[in-house]
Amino acid sequence: MHQVIGGRLLQLHGVSKAYPGVQALAGVDFDAGAGEVHALLGENGAGKSTLMKIVAGSVIPDEGELVLGGEPLPTGSPAACRQRGIGAVYQDLSLVPSMSVGENVLVGRWQRNRGLINVRRTERDAQPFLERIGLKVSPATLVRELGVAERQLVEIAKALSARVRVLLLDEPTSALSDPESRRLFSVIRDLVADGVAVIYVSHRLPEILEIADRITVLRDGMRVGEIPAATATEQQLAHMMVGHEIGEAMAVGQSSAEAVTNGHALVARGLGRPPRLKPVDLTIRAGEIVTVFGLVGAGRTRLARTLFGIEPPTTGELELFGQRIHIRGPADAIRAGVGYVGEDRSVGLVPTMTVSENITLASMNRTSHGPLLGIEAERALAERYVKELNIRTPSVHRRVVTLSGGNQQKVLLARWLCAGARLLILDDPVRGVDVGAKEEVFRLVRDLAAEGVAILYLTSEIREARMLGHRVVVMAGGSIVDDLLPPASEDRIMTAAGGAHV
Ligand SMILES: Nc1ncnc2c1ncn2[C@@H]1O[C@H](COP(=O)(O)OP(=O)(O)OP(=O)(O)O)[C@@H](O)[C@H]1O
Ligand SMILES: [Mg+2]
Repeated sequence: MHQVIGGRLLQLHGVSKAYPGVQALAGVDFDAGAGEVHALLGENGAGKSTLMKIVAGSVIPDEGELVLGGEPLPTGSPAACRQRGIGAVYQDLSLVPSMSVGENVLVGRWQRNRGLINVRRTERDAQPFLERIGLKVSPATLVRELGVAERQLVEIAKALSARVRVLLLDEPTSALSDPESRRLFSVIRDLVADGVAVIYVSHRLPEILEIADRITVLRDGMRVGEIPAATATEQQLAHMMVGHEIGEAMAVGQSSAEAVTNGHALVARGLGRPPRLKPVDLTIRAGEIVTVFGLVGAGRTRLARTLFGIEPPTTGELELFGQRIHIRGPADAIRAGVGYVGEDRSVGLVPTMTVSENITLASMNRTSHGPLLGIEAERALAERYVKELNIRTPSVHRRVVTLSGGNQQKVLLARWLCAGARLLILDDPVRGVDVGAKEEVFRLVRDLAAEGVAILYLTSEIREARMLGHRVVVMAGGSIVDDLLPPASEDRIMTAAGGAHV
């Protein structure tokens, strides 16, 4: 319906963008046709988000031209881009936490009564968009009360509420589990059938193969190539992204060769914080990887936050490394040797500090005798982890906000590895991390376990839960509903989690 004679709906020619020390994009050509999903793939820091932001007008390219519907698209004006029909869901969510879900969805288009915002009508008008995406929260809920996955859905509902010709989705499913992602896919298919052009970024390769028509791969800001999704394989895509073969760390059941019989690192009996977290029983042995799977809202994150003392337990008892302990706050957990990577990296990272400072933040007494870390020791330690985790940054002295999303996630992981935690709680730690780096993280998690570190690994992907866990714990409705030894079938896990498996 929006078909453009003689070319695709959206075209980018020779787009370049440099940041200090980084060529984020170098002469990239890209296009998207009405009625198709064009996926954009690449390692962390490859330039995907930069390209999306240029199309949406929020980043000004150094060079290059953009054409929409045969007419030049002005650069650097988000308002003009929105008006021409470009809608975006950003990787780093842009909702206003103090406003309600409904106000956020219809931001800028609120119902007014004599100039005043009619909040109730605005929220009612937002309801259909929430339903369309399958988000079961009241539009009057404040965004700050939602978890990352729910926020992601609100962000999508917001993009859907405007009539768009081009929809940019930057890792829209990174916090979602299978059923929620499927729901999004069906919405995308409807939009595509209506002639919308969708540009889709994700690190989940199976999902790209399912939803995309064409796939373009970026590496170090350059276009590596384009292939039709119909004939592509995961192996081939990973190879194009990374430039070499990867894969053996990604097989199911790698960690489950033998049961772990070490002493207990964690024993929780009836531990909970009702009504948000019902009392749970859970054990983790030293050197054991326990994965926790659950749908959005199942209580995974609440379990993690309770164990780490962010929302301290109000019932039950906890033993860490054989010692009874009362967790009143994160300081107690950290002192007992617990590390925590939360689902929302914006909470853990200190944006104004450097990569190096962020990495060494929890290791104050490992590298120095006093409370202060020697600058040199800090740098050396940080550089070791930057190298080990392959964190892409021109230097460890860069402020952490200038790193790409996946690289920020790796900085958080590095912090706890560096602090020598004996029990690591990882809440979706590879969310938004590219396949190559994911493999590094999995290998690292296994190496740590082999060295005796206990790992509680929370994930929204069944595949990860099965691949990494010595045991797979399933949560639903704020409780642990199943505790499985491998090889736990996907069906069994999904049934326990309460989702219909398609
Ligand atoms: N505002 C900024 N200031 C400095 N450097 C930046 C800025 N934004 C992006 N960069 C750099 O540009 C490069 C490309 O970043 P971009 O966010 O586009 O990557 P990406 O492909 O989206 O990665 P990811 O998969 O991790 O989200 C990275 O090296 C990043 O550090
Ligand atoms: Mg990105």
